[in-house]
Amino acid sequence: MHIHQNKLMKCFRHSVAILAIIIFTPPAWSSTKDRIGEKLADVKVTTLDGQAVNLLDYHTGKMFVIAYTGVGCPIAGRYAPRLEQLLKDYGKDGLHIIGINANPQDTADKVRDDIKELGITFPVLLDHHQQLTRQLDAKTTTVVFLVDKAGVIRYRGMIDNQYVLGAQRHKASRKYLEKAIRSVMKSKPVEVTRTAAPGCVITRIAPESTSERITYSSHIKRIIQDNCVACHRPKQVGPFSLTSYESVRGWSAMIHSVIMDRRMPPWNAAPEFDGTFVNERRLPEKDKQALLDWIANDMPRGHEEEDPPDKKFSRLWRIGKPDKVYTVKKGFSVPAEGVVEYQYFSIPTKFKKDKWIQAMEARAGAADVVHHILAFIVDPNGPRTQNSKLGLEDGYLCASVPGDTPSIFPKGRAKKLPAGHTIVLQVHYTTNGKKRKDKCKLAMVFSDDPVEEEVRTRGIYNLTFKIPPGDPDYEVRSEHTFKEDTQILGLYPHMHFRGKSWKYVAHYPDDTKKTLLDVPRFDYNWQESYILNKPITLPKGTKLECIAHFDNSDKNLVNPDPTEEVKFGEQSWEEMMIGYVDYITLADGGSQGTD
Ligand code: HEC
Repeated sequence: MHIHQNKLMKCFRHSVAILAIIIFTPPAWSSTKDRIGEKLADVKVTTLDGQAVNLLDYHTGKMFVIAYTGVGCPIAGRYAPRLEQLLKDYGKDGLHIIGINANPQDTADKVRDDIKELGITFPVLLDHHQQLTRQLDAKTTTVVFLVDKAGVIRYRGMIDNQYVLGAQRHKASRKYLEKAIRSVMKSKPVEVTRTAAPGCVITRIAPESTSERITYSSHIKRIIQDNCVACHRPKQVGPFSLTSYESVRGWSAMIHSVIMDRRMPPWNAAPEFDGTFVNERRLPEKDKQALLDWIANDMPRGHEEEDPPDKKFSRLWRIGKPDKVYTVKKGFSVPAEGVVEYQYFSIPTKFKKDKWIQAMEARAGAADVVHHILAFIVDPNGPRTQNSKLGLEDGYLCASVPGDTPSIFPKGRAKKLPAGHTIVLQVHYTTNGKKRKDKCKLAMVFSDDPVEEEVRTRGIYNLTFKIPPGDPDYEVRSEHTFKEDTQILGLYPHMHFRGKSWKYVAHYPDDTKKTLLDVPRFDYNWQESYILNKPITLPKGTKLECIAHFDNSDKNLVNPDPTEEVKFGEQSWEEMMIGYVDYITLADGGSQGTD
């Protein structure tokens, strides 16, 4: 194991800092439901024309006031001109106001008439399902919420203290909302963050009578099983299990935050590629809404006897019965803590004849500490290949990350395993405080049928870049022009800690271009292949370009050392820039496949 003490300590300290932030964030749904200092979760509300819209789409300025109103409530009406005045005074400073009506008895027509009479100019939206109202625990028709640019709630309560039901002061002596607006404008803490707003009490509609009631048994268990449990179950890479009601409820505040940020399930392709890749992990929008709604409703259990059955994770291989399983003989002792450099394991194959690999699946022995396994082949009689250059021209077999789908090629297509070649596994271990012994395995199914098309892999790489110290957005490009008609099956971008974003762009011979994959937020921890649902045909002469960006500044928390100039190299404090491509060369006049 090659460990560079200084840099590793830095890197380790950074991870501790990140962890601390994660663990000590106050729970988003604490029992007091105050929500001050928390991010507003997006919910669907309805326009007066009956359109369902996202509330946060209206949050386009520097500050955002959510002001509850109600038709017929005397003091809600009195506060309308005051809100208009605030808009006049602070609109130029980026203040936006949205009115929210959560009274199911106030129809859109009634609200429209009311707005007209009161001279309200800001948009008023309906929350008749009360999803927002439950999230904010809004109780009266004059309560306001001040939300800052980052979407964090900074003040809740009355606009000022002039009116209460049945009485009024001559003048407001405490202008809470305006004071809070001024503090937020100056990036200062808000002095009084919470007051009790007067007004008419909003009648709460039980969730049963609004939408279908969401409980753990009716929806949530299934959603968590489909999207999270592949990793979040005992002895897997997810740091805790989400296999019971108690654990999902206990983690709900964190679950809320990771699904809002799209951090979980991990999947880094840009949203416009949703549906493009076989192995995508994406929480469907409907499931995301159901989860948010359930959390906002205090996570009802439902009836245990109605729970869907536990998902079974077979210990069998998902590629079917393998013809051959290779195991790393000696294995590796994973330390309890620190950063472990990539480990390489060579496994000789002893076939006398070439074999054709129809399907492959890599598996960790200690799955809770293995973050990825890459498999390559090398010719033991050829020139020695440096670990950093494995698979550059060819010889890459597959990449596997936890919870991923295995590599299975369509019938008639396979990867070649030349007789006598050696398999090399590259394994990325992430320590978790517990010592582990790992022995990885690689299983293969060979093709019996004659193989019509060989699946090859090449790296499109740049070996000569020099990333300047401190550069937050350094661009590196590489390209390859295919000399034959080619079909692309999968893509896998590879960079290290400074990797920031990645794109594959095809430049067609007719001068048009198309982005095949965009990873706007590259994450070193998720080294994965993107396997296309539908192969993409590139006519001969197409240039495939890779565009990488690196963040070598101190803003990149995992940067081992922002003061270094960084070049290509195998160690994690060096960098890589390799765009792997799985492809088939189409025979002349042969099948064109789908595009
Ligand atoms: C492919 C594996 C995988 C899947 C699927 C997955 N997680 Fe995770 N999860 C992890 C790993 C690994 C971590 C530890 C942090 C890391 O390495 O990114 C983690 C961390 C978390 C954390 C802690 C906060 C954090 O960011 O570290 C939460 C909360 C979480 N996951 C919730 C979920 C939920 C909810 C789902 C499903 C909607 C889900 N995860 C799906 C692997 C997974």
